[in-house]
Parts: sequence; structure tokens; C-alpha cells
Amino acid sequence: MEARRITDILRNGQPDETVTVQGWVRTKRELKGFAFLEINDGSSMANLQVILNGDLPDYEPLLKQITTGSSVEAIGLLVPSQGKGQRIELQPSSVRVYGGCDPETYPLQKKRHSFEFLRDIGHLRARTNTLGAVFRVRNACASAIHQFFQERGFLWVHTPLITASDCEGAGELFAVTNLNLKEIPRLENGEIDYSQDFFGKPAYLTVSGQLEAEIMAMSFKDVYTFGPTFRAENSNTSRHLAEFWMIEPEKAFCDLEGDMNLAEDFLKYVFNSVLNTCPEDLEFFNQRIDKTVLATAENIVSNQFERISYTEAVELLLKCDRAFEFPVEWGVDLQSEHERYLAEELFKKPTIVYNYPKDIKAFYMRLNDDGKTVAAMDVLAPKVGEIIGGSQREERLDRLEQRMAEMDIPQEELWWYLDLRRYGTVPHAGFGLGFERLVQFMTGMNNIRDVIPFPRVPLSAEF
Ligand code: 4AD
Ligand code: MG
Repeated sequence: MEARRITDILRNGQPDETVTVQGWVRTKRELKGFAFLEINDGSSMANLQVILNGDLPDYEPLLKQITTGSSVEAIGLLVPSQGKGQRIELQPSSVRVYGGCDPETYPLQKKRHSFEFLRDIGHLRARTNTLGAVFRVRNACASAIHQFFQERGFLWVHTPLITASDCEGAGELFAVTNLNLKEIPRLENGEIDYSQDFFGKPAYLTVSGQLEAEIMAMSFKDVYTFGPTFRAENSNTSRHLAEFWMIEPEKAFCDLEGDMNLAEDFLKYVFNSVLNTCPEDLEFFNQRIDKTVLATAENIVSNQFERISYTEAVELLLKCDRAFEFPVEWGVDLQSEHERYLAEELFKKPTIVYNYPKDIKAFYMRLNDDGKTVAAMDVLAPKVGEIIGGSQREERLDRLEQRMAEMDIPQEELWWYLDLRRYGTVPHAGFGLGFERLVQFMTGMNNIRDVIPFPRVPLSAEF
């Protein structure tokens, strides 16, 4: 008989139904003549209670084999539960232990472990309540994101992970090479001879799929990417990963305002969807991790985001009586302390800041008529800070060429990007959502390393 998921049994199981369940033992409680097991298969926060009766064949040796962490299959009848806390429980007529689990060395004990400790046991931490809930919410977010775009006719496009261009120009690239690092071939002038490398030129892991997404938007109008991106950012913070997932919609015939509307609709849709699909998990986060999780989610779904220009943001920051670590003046990039002040304290909701100074933004952003700012926008979230970065793109060939020249970006390498402005150019815009920052925001988890199964950060690539 096909095993049923525990979430399904807890919700829909009826007394006298015969079911098979498979999972891992969370706890075992022995009483005189019988024992209680709590079994979890990852499908829900709640466990299925299983009562082992003393008259099961081989009861005593079976009970010895079953320990916290062991994997079991139980087949039997569902019965109404006598105890509190669950509607239904299982009284198996047969139980099979697949793999034992040595209680002396099993690192997951029945106490609260710190998230730091759990990171060291990344191969086991998904079996805890919190990480289990995180990865279910993460899955629900991914599913809602695809639904949002698919319902609106956006094409999911797959952009390369290996690329020769630095989209953001921030110099945070990981090199991809198959040169022998012990004997690097060199030119006469001492520089590396990349003609002997795999691609015949320097190549990197992508920091963003945007430039290629723009190519695809120029024939499908509305596209999005959803894939991993890589940044060799040597910052050990609770918001940065070296490998993270990004969602990048790109929309043709769209300006900055359309882009901001899309970002707002998108976040509202995803929050609403996850509120509906993962209510128990969000309730758990609200109780155990951050008391504002549910209020934040409801606030996002039902209120308009704040929208202010960068210039207004700077004025507000100068006016407030806060002593920031990084002083503010027009022209500087907003630091996370500024972003959090705006979203968390001043407006108490997601805040979109737009029209940033051109000198602190990437080459592809559209120059505004003032000649000083570009049509960029960041969505700032309470607690997390920047969660989305986006812009209207420079669609005018002459302006783009001029900007690239000013910023020393070689035009030969991006000849195809310029071609898009020669052949049927059109105003277009898009943004990038950091997937892990979204999951952090939604769950209230403090550290970004605890919302991705296997975090990649400086000096750590275990598992
Ligand atoms: O603001 P960013 O750098 O924008 C881009 O890459 C554009 N090409 C996006 C676009 O317009 N298509 O990055 C976008 C988002 C950030 O707002 C942040 O949420 C996330 O990606 N992000 C990171 N998340 C985790 N770890 C890091 N090191 C991140 N760097 C950026
Ligand atoms: Mg950004």
C-alpha cells in the first residue's frame, strides 16, 4: 500500500481507515505494556502519534530498535485519539525499522539547539521543527512565484550560469577556469593567456541573469528568470550569501512606474499565497521566532507600499535625530541602517525608493531628464532592508554608449546588448528579488544562512 503523507492523514484521515506511514521517529515514550511514538515525514510541523501495543509481534526487540532519529514504516488502523493535541492516531499492526539511530551519538537531542550549532550539522538540521518549517515555506514561495508569473503570461527563461560579462559591474565575480592553476600559461607581458582557457576568454559565474533576460524580453515581452546567482562578496553578514537564488522579471513596453507596480503586486501575491498554503508554519514563526511575522504578512497583503524618491529619502534621513554609523548626504548609497530606519521605523511597511544618483548605480539604468539620477528602484523591507533591486533600462543607443564610455565598460564585449538598442528597441524595465531575503522576511529568521539548505559563505562550503 502506498504510504500517505502525515499532513494528509492528520487533515483527512478517518477512524478505521488502514494506512501506511513512513518517516523518522521524533520521540518515543515507553509506558507499561505500550509505547507512544511521534513520527514526522517533513510534510507538516505536526507529528503523527503512533501507539505501539505490547501485543505486537516482537514488541520488546522492536522497541529497543526504535530510537529518536530512526526511520520506520508503520501499517495499521487509524483510531480517534484519546489524548489531547491530536484528532487521530495510528495503531499499527506491523512496524518495520529501516535504519536504527544510535542515541549516544545522534546530534539532535530533544532540547533546543542554537542555529549556529545546527549549521554545523547541515545534513541533519532539516529534521528540526524550525528548519522544517523554513524549507516548507521556501517551497511555497517558489511555487507562488511561478504561479504569479505564469498566470500573467510571463515566460520562464533559463539564463546561463557561466558568463563572460559582469552585469552589476561590482567586481564580485567568481572565475570559472580549467587552466592548470599550478602552471598558468602567460603572455610575454606576464598576463594570463586566456586563449588557452576553456572558453578562450575569461569566464565567470553569473551575478545576475538580467542582461540575457533583456534579450529574451525583446521577443517575448514578459519574461522571468529563477535561478542561482553568485557573488564573491566578502561580507560576513546575516543578509549575504555567496550563492543565492534570484528571481528576475523583465518586461518590455514598461517604465519605472510599471516596474514598481509589478514588484508590489508580486510581493502581495506571494505573501497572500503563502499565508494560505502554510498557515501552521507561519503561526509557528510568529510564536517562536518573531512576533511580528503574521502582522507583517497581513500588512503587506492589505496596505499600499510607501514610495519615495531617493532625494526625499535623504531629506528624511537628514531630518531624523538618529546618529547613523554612516553619515548621509545626497549622492551616497543608502546603508542597511538607513534602509531599515525608513522601512522599519518611519513607514513601518515596505518602502520603494526610486530615482537614485546615477553614480552609485549600474551602467544599464535609464538616465532621467535631470541628468543626475537614473530610473532605479529598491524595495526596502522592515528588518531585512533591500529585498528587491530594479530599474528601467536605458533603451536609447546613444545614451547607453555614452554611459558605458564614462564607466569604462568595453563596448566590444557587450556588442549584442547594444544591438538590442539598434534593432527594435523599446522602453523596458525589470527587477531582481533575492529569494533568500524574501524567505527571511516572510519567516522572521534572523540569519540568511538558515533559510537556504546549504549556505555558501566565506570560508564555508560544507555539504
Ligand atoms: O540589487 P541587485 O544587485 O540587482 C541586480 O542584480 C539586478 N541585475 C536585478 C535586475 O534588475 N534584474 O540584486 C538584486 C537582489 C537584491 O535586492 C537582494 O535582495 C539580492 O538580490 N542580493 C543578495 N541576496 C543574498 N546574498 C547576496 N550576496 C545578495 N546580493 C544581492
Ligand atoms: Mg541592489
